[in-house]
Amino acid sequence: MDDYSTSARTSGWHHYPGEVWDERKPITWLDDWPFWAYCIQHYATSEAPILELACGNGRITRQLALAGYTVTAVDLNPHFLSRASTYLPEHVRPNVNLMLQDVINLDLDQQFAIVLMTDWAFPAILTQDDQLRFFERLGRHLSPSGVFAFNTPLLGASPIVGQFDALSQTETKTSAENTIRLRHNTLSEILLLGKLTGFEIIEAYGGVDKRPLLGQVGDDLTLVMRYVG
Ligand SMILES: C[S@@+](CC[C@H](N)C(=O)[O-])C[C@H]1O[C@@H](n2cnc3c(N)ncnc32)[C@H](O)[C@@H]1O
Repeated sequence: MDDYSTSARTSGWHHYPGEVWDERKPITWLDDWPFWAYCIQHYATSEAPILELACGNGRITRQLALAGYTVTAVDLNPHFLSRASTYLPEHVRPNVNLMLQDVINLDLDQQFAIVLMTDWAFPAILTQDDQLRFFERLGRHLSPSGVFAFNTPLLGASPIVGQFDALSQTETKTSAENTIRLRHNTLSEILLLGKLTGFEIIEAYGGVDKRPLLGQVGDDLTLVMRYVG
């Protein structure tokens, strides 16, 4: 934990119990899978590995592996990773590399054509310093023109169920008796982060259902960004 980022230490995810998260987001919950499947169909090549950041209990990792891809999946919660491992069918297990890491300090000796960060995992990056570091390190792990697909709450449009602090743009909420914190993002901050770190938005939606991004109530930011260096 000592070498974890501020976000990793304070977002509430590192000690979230694995069995509780499994109940909230079972691996059978796959409503968002068609969008991530669309992303890999468009941007992955069949032989190149996929990087999944903040994989949780591995519900998307498992789908990627079952679709025939080699996957490196990273999370900071060891309980989630061990559950992710048990959910992998034997025949795909050799194709999945599960790694305990803070994505803000991502350090893999590999580059990828596509990186996914699904189901509002990005907002666990709470501060602008951590966001900047995240994008800088992500760039080093993407091959030229590689893409990063993710979703995150849109400030002012996505629902707030907990307590919102306008200065830090963070919501603090209770999730099955666990306190978690998440940042609500603006489109302009993502654009600026991209400009500073060599990313541009190539697809933008208001949700994983691919609705147009209009900033209306209920929208989030569902984005595909390309690393242009
Ligand atoms: C909302 S869950 C999403 C899980 C998974 N992506 C899915 O689609 O089911 C957020 C995940 O982000 C992980 N996470 C949060 N901050 C992280 C960090 N700094 N580094 C790695 N994983 C992180 C949590 O442990 C958790 O698994």
